Amino acid sequence: MCGIVGITSNKQVTSSIINSLRKLEYRGYDSAGIATLNDGFINEVKCEGRVDTLEKNLSKIKIEGTIGIGHVRWATHGSPSTVNAHPHSSEKVSVVHNGIIENSTILKKYLIKKGHKFKSQTDTEVIVHLITEYLKKNDLKKTILKVLKKLHGSFALGIIFKEQPDLIVGARRGSPLAVGYGPNENYLGSDSYALKSMTNKISYLNDGDFCIVKKDQVEFFDNKGNKVNKKILKLSSNEQDYDKGDYKHFMAKEIEEQPTTIKNCVNEYINKMSGDINIFNFPWKSNEISSIVLIGCGTAYHSCLMAKYWFEQLTNLDVGVDIASEFRYRKNRFKKDALYIFVSQSGETADTFAALDLCNKNNMKTCSVVNVVESSIARESKFVLPIHCGPEVGVASTKAFLGQMLVLYILCLKFAQMRKEIKKNVYMEKIKSLFLLSKLAKKSLETDSKIQSVCSSFTDIKGSMFLGRGYSFPIALEGALKLKELSYVHAEGYPAGEMKHGPLALIEDGLPVVVLAPRDEYYKKTISNMQEVIARGAKVLLITNKSKDEVHSENIWEKIEVENTSEDLLPFLLTIPLQKLAYYSAFKKGYDIDKPRNLAKSVTVE
Ligand code: G6P
Repeated sequence: MCGIVGITSNKQVTSSIINSLRKLEYRGYDSAGIATLNDGFINEVKCEGRVDTLEKNLSKIKIEGTIGIGHVRWATHGSPSTVNAHPHSSEKVSVVHNGIIENSTILKKYLIKKGHKFKSQTDTEVIVHLITEYLKKNDLKKTILKVLKKLHGSFALGIIFKEQPDLIVGARRGSPLAVGYGPNENYLGSDSYALKSMTNKISYLNDGDFCIVKKDQVEFFDNKGNKVNKKILKLSSNEQDYDKGDYKHFMAKEIEEQPTTIKNCVNEYINKMSGDINIFNFPWKSNEISSIVLIGCGTAYHSCLMAKYWFEQLTNLDVGVDIASEFRYRKNRFKKDALYIFVSQSGETADTFAALDLCNKNNMKTCSVVNVVESSIARESKFVLPIHCGPEVGVASTKAFLGQMLVLYILCLKFAQMRKEIKKNVYMEKIKSLFLLSKLAKKSLETDSKIQSVCSSFTDIKGSMFLGRGYSFPIALEGALKLKELSYVHAEGYPAGEMKHGPLALIEDGLPVVVLAPRDEYYKKTISNMQEVIARGAKVLLITNKSKDEVHSENIWEKIEVENTSEDLLPFLLTIPLQKLAYYSAFKKGYDIDKPRNLAKSVTVE
């Protein structure tokens, strides 16, 4: 994780660096720092905590310069502290780094022998000393090539040099890095969002590339030092999407936006008149694919799991689901007739990217479902399905989860239709339900007051359980993850039918248990499991859909009802109250909802 930025200009750069760092805080927020070059000296200001603290410090210790780098950190090596905050500098160079240097211990030993003194516990500091060491005998370009070759692991780097006051070097392997072009100034940043207020002209470094950024010129090189040309992309401007408006938190805004994002996505993919799904230029024929492997991390993994239920229900395809960090290191038997689908909001998650890269290297059919269409995962996959839900800023994913599920559901319908595994009338019914989904999701938002009244029971607790069967099981996992992420309480999602094989031992008087029991084919079974936990003292919050029939169970603590739709679309409606439950529980505790402790939005380290 971590976010990096660099600016070279003919104006002072400190305040622009601070502005960009604010935008990068979603990548890490345990410490921050800035370094500029002025009158032949490197000046550094760093602090533990947020960019706000850094800005306060900068009002006391003024640093000047028309060239500089900045960093927000998500600690990997060394605790979050001022001394471990980036930039790390020697007398000659200053470095900001996103990633992990896996051979830092060996390199550190070598550098200590050469007389280098280390100040921090970070892996990054070896890069500083390695550059300083190699600069003794090599020119800048040779030094960079040699240093990059020595480093194992992942990195995006921004480097300034005391003796080259007109340039910043950027380099990437594994972690993302973009270059932006402005009037009489150029930029380096972890992503385009960091640079958006300064420019909409962007180029992306490929894995292994490095670049030399001057205020009036940018040169790119591959890992052998050969010059490469880069396309300049023009980004659309959607600054207002990054504004919370009247909401207290981005998460609140993003939850409320869901009916709109559902509507946009459905309209984007489906022709309302004909019911045709607009997935054009799909590079493979349906008979070339007989299985699907869905891969993601965190919330994205849950949407993959959800899609397995749909694909198995509506098609005859074999479906596998994998957590990217497991997939990438397992001995996979790659299948020529498989479609590998990578799901990622950010499109930058290191493990998902590595899994995609592995599939590409094995010549597999790769497709991604992403929110950020300029991301590394989108650029490297052979086919891209955007979720069209606009920027998601809150660290805990909400609207992107619904967006991922929606696109996967639509893709599943498309496969079922192409493979002639769904009857025309059933297909048309499902399309009709999709067009109604946005309105029904809006109704799910109205569960607010009920959620607010129950959420205090989820704050000071030993733990809680979220149970569901079938389509509701991935949603139970997601509900538990949301509560963990935001409220810092233990929450476990479990298949309701599996409780008796262990977790039932955890149930005791007053333990809050959320049971997802929509009236689908699993309903009766789930209600039986619910009675088993009630009998053992659990305080059950039942989430189901509206029905004229009463729920046949006594002693349910609270009940929330969502609207009715087809069984396979109910997961969308059940998700929303769970997002709100996590939101209000964290709100009650006064926690930082958009930036929960220890987490980051874009996880670019493995
Ligand atoms: C982080 C975020 C999660 C997200 C996961 C995968 O852990 O905090 O909300 O689900 O990364 O991110 P991706 O961008 O690949 O969907």
